[in-house]
Amino acid sequence: MSGQLIGVGTGPGDPELITLKAVNALARADVVAHFAKRGHVSNARTIAAAHIGRKAVELPLLYPVTTEIPKDDPAYKKVIQDFYEESARTVEEHLAAGHTVVVLSEGDPLFFGSYMHLHVRLAHLYPTEVVAGITAMSGCWSAVGLPIAQGDDVLSVLPGTLPESELARRMDGADAAIIMKVGRNLPKIRRALETAGKLGEAVFVERGTMEAMVTMPLSEKPNDKAAYFSIVLVPGWRGQEINADVADHPGSSPGQALSPALRQAQDEGEESLAAMKGAHSSPPQNVGERWPREAGSVRGSPAEEIPQAKANHLDETNAAAADAPASPRTRP
Ligand SMILES: C[S@@+](CC[C@H](N)C(=O)[O-])C[C@H]1O[C@@H](n2cnc3c(N)ncnc32)[C@H](O)[C@@H]1O
Repeated sequence: MSGQLIGVGTGPGDPELITLKAVNALARADVVAHFAKRGHVSNARTIAAAHIGRKAVELPLLYPVTTEIPKDDPAYKKVIQDFYEESARTVEEHLAAGHTVVVLSEGDPLFFGSYMHLHVRLAHLYPTEVVAGITAMSGCWSAVGLPIAQGDDVLSVLPGTLPESELARRMDGADAAIIMKVGRNLPKIRRALETAGKLGEAVFVERGTMEAMVTMPLSEKPNDKAAYFSIVLVPGWRGQEINADVADHPGSSPGQALSPALRQAQDEGEESLAAMKGAHSSPPQNVGERWPREAGSVRGSPAEEIPQAKANHLDETNAAAADAPASPRTRP
């Protein structure tokens, strides 16, 4: 009897944002696999730690060290491809032995997740289930209370690895945009946003929903440093059509969906940027005051330096995959 492959999303970082379905899948796992950079702990594993059973065998899938190979060198791509092939073979050995293998994935497994490299190689061969996870972007815009898209807004999700001109072109045509894989791409993203006339609206979120979350208007970020777990949110909806929205949902009252800071700013007739700034300098709605306001966790403070040492182990997980040029149409 063959085993089962289960790709499990762990959500964006806050351990409370893991789903019941993910917890149940972990409870029946014989093997729990997670991708990580050598010498680092997988962020997905850290998020799900409390739910990994004592009897489960853990299977870290460790990215090869590739620092000596330039990213645009075909040799780099080959090393990464070989790694995914080998990882799939390792997981397959367990499946062939009848084991239930859970593969953890930060956020959602089928949204820029390393799990996908196993899925495309194994899902047609073994019974497979995918447990959706809360994506990083959703966790981040909720954590900072930033309404992102409404009505006819077009929302673009862009990897920060795209060339600068392409980023600017796509942001120009979008009402709302999410830029993933910020990290070392931040200076380029900043320039592209400026070209598209959207820098003033952009909100930077680092380690969203995690204890060390930092957020601020991107225009107020004092440096070009960003952790691997960073995202840029460009909101589309600014609340102007609030009455039409309420008409669609008669049970709600005007402004109900907005964070208190954003609503207050609207009441005072301020422009949308001021409203956004107010919204994300207040404590995130979902986590309230639970996160300590100590060094590194102050929100909306433009001068706040990122506590690199504190979360270093989170930064590089999946970095090899993230640094690879975006090529969505080629097989991984
Ligand atoms: C390989 S993608 C993984 C996306 C994930 N599967 C999801 O569903 O959101 C990694 C990128 O997601 C973003 N990301 C993931 N978690 C994040 C967090 N907690 N805060 C901010 N950005 C995050 C960063 O842009 C990071 O470079």
